[in-house]
Amino acid sequence: MSDLRTDLDDLSASASARVAGSETVAAVDVLRHELLGRSGRLAAVMRQLGSVPTEERPAIGQRANEVRRQLESAIAKRLKELESGDLAERLASEAIDMSAPGRPLAGGHLHPVQTLMRDLREIFHAFGFEVFEGPEIETDEYNFELLNIPADHPARDLWDTLFVAEPGSVEARQSRPAEDGTILRTHTSPVQMRAMHALEAPIRVLTPGRCFRYEAVDASHAFEFFQVEGLVVDRDTSLADLKGLLEEVARALYGRDVRTRFRPGYYPFTEPSVAFDIGCLVCGGEGCPACGRSGWMTILGAGMVHPIVLRNGGFDPAEYQGYAFGMGPDRMTMLRHGIGDIRLFFSADQRFTTQFAEGR
Ligand code: PHE
Repeated sequence: MSDLRTDLDDLSASASARVAGSETVAAVDVLRHELLGRSGRLAAVMRQLGSVPTEERPAIGQRANEVRRQLESAIAKRLKELESGDLAERLASEAIDMSAPGRPLAGGHLHPVQTLMRDLREIFHAFGFEVFEGPEIETDEYNFELLNIPADHPARDLWDTLFVAEPGSVEARQSRPAEDGTILRTHTSPVQMRAMHALEAPIRVLTPGRCFRYEAVDASHAFEFFQVEGLVVDRDTSLADLKGLLEEVARALYGRDVRTRFRPGYYPFTEPSVAFDIGCLVCGGEGCPACGRSGWMTILGAGMVHPIVLRNGGFDPAEYQGYAFGMGPDRMTMLRHGIGDIRLFFSADQRFTTQFAEGR
């Protein structure tokens, strides 16, 4: 039966080529089924073995086994090739370039005004001051009345006030009292009163915070800004203590060589009141546009706590004295960096703020 032998030879030759030419694992599986399966081509040949003369059977059977082994190994080989090819392709598509530099994380940093306020806190901490904070939404009583500024007093014109009309809405009604007396604080001085009501003497507090005024906004006026207030209440304190403290603070902030001066000032809640100036940081005292050609820059207002205010705070002015000061960190930051427009502080413009990222 040389017919069967020819079939086997054909099968061997054509099948090997087809296995080698299969492009996917699935195609090889289909082929395996077609060639070696129960009803496959090789099985068909084997079924005919019975009709082969007995003496030829062993040789043909042997050849059939040979072909089976040949096909099995061709299939195994091709599967291996395809699988390793797939793997290589997958690895290539999922590759991570370890040599690429990482994307930098954008780190935050303090706003320059906050940096200055932090510096102030540190300096005053060294003089024994603790931070005491009060609310931004205040009452007329704390913001004005208890600070010796009655409703009809002309000094109210110094603090153009934003009144809180209804919960959730802020309405500007200049020079007119709100029905319930709720306002946005115009300065941090009400916190003086809150500290006196909350603490026992001796008091040494720093009260930093945000304030609000009904302002015509321009390069040097904002309707929101910061103040850093200080209050000392004790038995033997004086204007000389205030003067010495402020001079040391100015040196710590602006350097040992800074020039300072006190001028008479007016505030209803201090008596006497002073304004504290430093020699102009821009021109060094010659006189320039930044200092209004005076050679001096005012950085704070201060004075001895008024006896009426001490009494309102629960302290007997015959026994206790106090001094207080209030400064504007926005303006001080402008002086520190030579910034010409206060509106930049509230603009949220990162081209401006990121200039102060260094070292923070
Ligand atoms: N509260 C004053 C202002 O807003 C500043 C000040 C504070 C003056 C404390 C004297 C004492 O201008």
